[in-house]
Amino acid sequence: MSMSHYYLLGRSGLRVSPLSLGTMTFGKEGPLGGIWGSTEDVARTLFNRYLDAGGNSVDTADLYTHGTSETLLGKFMEERGDRDRIVLTTKYTYNSTRPGDPNAGGNSRKNMMRAVEASLRRLRTDYIDLYLLHTWDRITPAEEVVRTFDDLVRAGKIRYAGLSDVPSWYAARAQTWAEAHALTPLINLQLQYSLVERSLEHEFSPLAQTLGMGITAWSPLGMGLLSGKYRPSEGGAQGDGRLISAVGGQQLGLFTERNWRIVTVLEQVAKELGKDMSQVALNWVATQPGVGSVILGASNPSQLDGNLAALDFSIPAGLRRQLDEASAPPVPFPHSMFSNPYQLDLHGKAAVGDKPAGYTSPVFTGTAARVG
Ligand SMILES: NC(=O)c1ccc[n+]([C@@H]2O[C@H](COP(=O)([O-])OP(=O)(O)OC[C@H]3O[C@@H](n4cnc5c(N)ncnc54)[C@H](OP(=O)(O)O)[C@@H]3O)[C@@H](O)[C@H]2O)c1
Repeated sequence: MSMSHYYLLGRSGLRVSPLSLGTMTFGKEGPLGGIWGSTEDVARTLFNRYLDAGGNSVDTADLYTHGTSETLLGKFMEERGDRDRIVLTTKYTYNSTRPGDPNAGGNSRKNMMRAVEASLRRLRTDYIDLYLLHTWDRITPAEEVVRTFDDLVRAGKIRYAGLSDVPSWYAARAQTWAEAHALTPLINLQLQYSLVERSLEHEFSPLAQTLGMGITAWSPLGMGLLSGKYRPSEGGAQGDGRLISAVGGQQLGLFTERNWRIVTVLEQVAKELGKDMSQVALNWVATQPGVGSVILGASNPSQLDGNLAALDFSIPAGLRRQLDEASAPPVPFPHSMFSNPYQLDLHGKAAVGDKPAGYTSPVFTGTAARVG
């Protein structure tokens, strides 16, 4: 796997790099931008370096740095003059412009139509490649969202659609509704996924592969925790980075005993491989089932350079097992019912789960089909 290979995202013909560029930290506006954000010069360097390395997939949102992330990307794309090579993702949901106006936020048809026009203006483009609902608003019916995505595709304003941070039942409802009514299918689920956040594996990994939605993984380094630059200390952690800040790892619940154990095993594995901890953590996510692309975050060019080399090696099975075991998430009900002892009873004690070599499920599993 390398940056010069492109994956099909979900059940679509869209090819994306296995590592995407996250731009949540482009700009210094907004509450988080003030703490985590990069200057325009640093952001431009990261953007150009990523594209020069062969990457084609760039992720933003109208929320990020109060629209500055989109504004900077619009400027950088114009400077480079190769807008069409880029697979540009942006998202809507949050009301960051009109406090007090209930329809300037949420996932309704009215807000999606407003938000897409504002994003197009900031991005200085007339189309968005992949448009995502950012976060479930607990109100808007999936049917309304899917129908509006379809209208935007037909109007030429977006090319593809997907969902970020929604419950699995909502994603399943949206996709089956789209299929049943021949509307634009959803090709992407953008979700948090890392060695310290694996809860999506129970529902979303099989959902994504079965219904043709490629997963793109956000915060693959646990916001920097898995880079190894933080150490536990009295009452929290010490280290130099965004997690030691007003909105840091303590508040985000990242500095737990479990997470420190995962960091310790990751450090040992990285040492054996002669790689950076960040590279091993990114490689692990990129090679998990259902993952189409991993969204990189970087605060400076040297971090980005290191992270872009994360796919230049393979993690041998034995070392991967150590990472899997150290980070295994608790198995919630009803998934605890699906382990082998129960399944054996269910099948009258006939052996199950031993598929003949070469067997492939008749269900579509094209998420990670590789081209190039
Ligand atoms: N859909 C959503 O709800 C959602 C939510 C969050 C993010 N996202 C997307 O996902 C992208 C990535 O998220 P993220 O920034 O949280 O990802 P991450 O990879 O978990 O964290 C990135 C941060 O880790 C540190 N880091 C990265 N590489 C490093 C290295 N080699 N050595 C040491 N430290 C390193 C840097 O922070 P320091 O400043 O501390 O050095 C960097 O900003 C975002 O830009 C955004 O596009 C989406």
